Amino acid sequence: MQDFLALADHSPQEIQSLLDLAVQLKKDHAAGGNKPILQGKALAMVFQKSSLRTRVSFEMGMQHLGGHALYIGPQEIGLGQRESIADVARVLDGYVDGIMARVFDHQHVLELAHWAAKPVINGLSDYNHPCQGLSDALTIYEHYKGDIKGLKVVYVGDGNNVAVSLMHVCAKLGMHFTIANPEGYDMLPPAIELGREFAAESGANIELLNDPAQAVQDADVIYTDTWTSMGQEEESKKREAVFPPYQVNAALLAKAKPTAVVLHCLPAHRGQEITDEVADGPQSLLFPQAHNRLHAQKALLATLLG
Ligand code: CP
Ligand code: NVA
Repeated sequence: MQDFLALADHSPQEIQSLLDLAVQLKKDHAAGGNKPILQGKALAMVFQKSSLRTRVSFEMGMQHLGGHALYIGPQEIGLGQRESIADVARVLDGYVDGIMARVFDHQHVLELAHWAAKPVINGLSDYNHPCQGLSDALTIYEHYKGDIKGLKVVYVGDGNNVAVSLMHVCAKLGMHFTIANPEGYDMLPPAIELGREFAAESGANIELLNDPAQAVQDADVIYTDTWTSMGQEEESKKREAVFPPYQVNAALLAKAKPTAVVLHCLPAHRGQEITDEVADGPQSLLFPQAHNRLHAQKALLATLLG
């Protein structure tokens, strides 16, 4: 594994190995600490957007493994503006052992990976959020005790970056994936095509719907995310008018299996895509899910930088 830019680039076996390693690293951490397998290694974290989870979990992940992480905020290097992406990549190559980047345009993280000799990890782009998808798979895997083939995962809301990574990881690992999104807010057709390809290989189904009530029938996992992603702020008024029927609330949750669990990548806009009642209710896994970013990404760091 050279880079981690999209789950679509990795085989089910590679993803499963990352999950197994994440489970082990999580156990070791709970039992007193991880081995310093990244001693002397450094990760540059390039952010063009805000972050809580991605920034802190990567920084703490490097620390737990004996390495160091360097935060480079949106105002600092002006990726592609103050300096070309190709030059940034080749400069960082001489200083650090890996680069994590959160960008607007997915092409920018691809370009970074093209020019950097060191591993590049996508910490979210407009196209997908593979670190989130990997951590979500870990959360589902733990909750269902490894028995995940054939589970029904339902995403309700915008067909955004998080939806694409979730669809791809589900399809790779044999979980059925259903999305209910408003018309005009579909996932990108090439992403859907890839999802169908992976699903055909694993025996999963991909179902594209507009009706949330129909979608959540028999769901084992219900997932939602913000209606307005970072970079789409000027559309937020329009979206707030379209998306209310896609709120994950107690009435919608009641239509799923009684054992269903609820996920959200966070940050949540409580009262919009999810109610407090559901986010803080007994079926919510929101905080264990957020915490699993740390463990899943440690597996990634150990694999790519170790
Ligand atoms: N879920 C997620 O990526 O959160 P941050 O934007 O806070 O990193
Ligand atoms: N879809 C959201 C996810 C944030 C973690 C965004 O891109 O802003």
